[in-house]
Amino acid sequence: PKVLVLHGPNLNRLGKREPGVYGRKSLTELNHRLEELGREWGLEVETFQSNHEGELIDRIHAADGTFDHLIINPGALTHYSYALRDALASVEVPAIEVHLSNIHNREAFRAHSVTAPATVGQIVGLGFLSYELALRAVAVRLGLIN
Ligand code: DQA
Repeated sequence: PKVLVLHGPNLNRLGKREPGVYGRKSLTELNHRLEELGREWGLEVETFQSNHEGELIDRIHAADGTFDHLIINPGALTHYSYALRDALASVEVPAIEVHLSNIHNREAFRAHSVTAPATVGQIVGLGFLSYELALRAVAVRLGLIN
């Protein structure tokens, strides 16, 4: 089975960007960790980051029929992109939304996700572990582990 992990705007800056909030480890380190965990569970993990809403939407459309699950951190698009939400709703592939930071204890505008209603669940506030737990949930949902 194949899972596509999508990282939205500014996540390419991980490790350098507000390290007090997002940590000092890079996106490459995160992606390697997810690929390694995926291998353990028999999941093929592909990762993609873009700063462009349309590119993320195109990848979601292309995932229909080619991927078994999505994991997405839409970055700030979480809070206002109805287009991204509609893209998630337009495909058969289920998605889990993740956030590194706890969007509920930061600025008020971050607490609301317009994309989450188009996903099966959301994991927030646990840094890299948010993604790792989402990947574990995917493996369970696909029947690879208990
Ligand atoms: C984020 C939270 C968003 O509010 C922010 O715009 C990001 C990262 C997170 O992973 O904590 O870019 O999605």
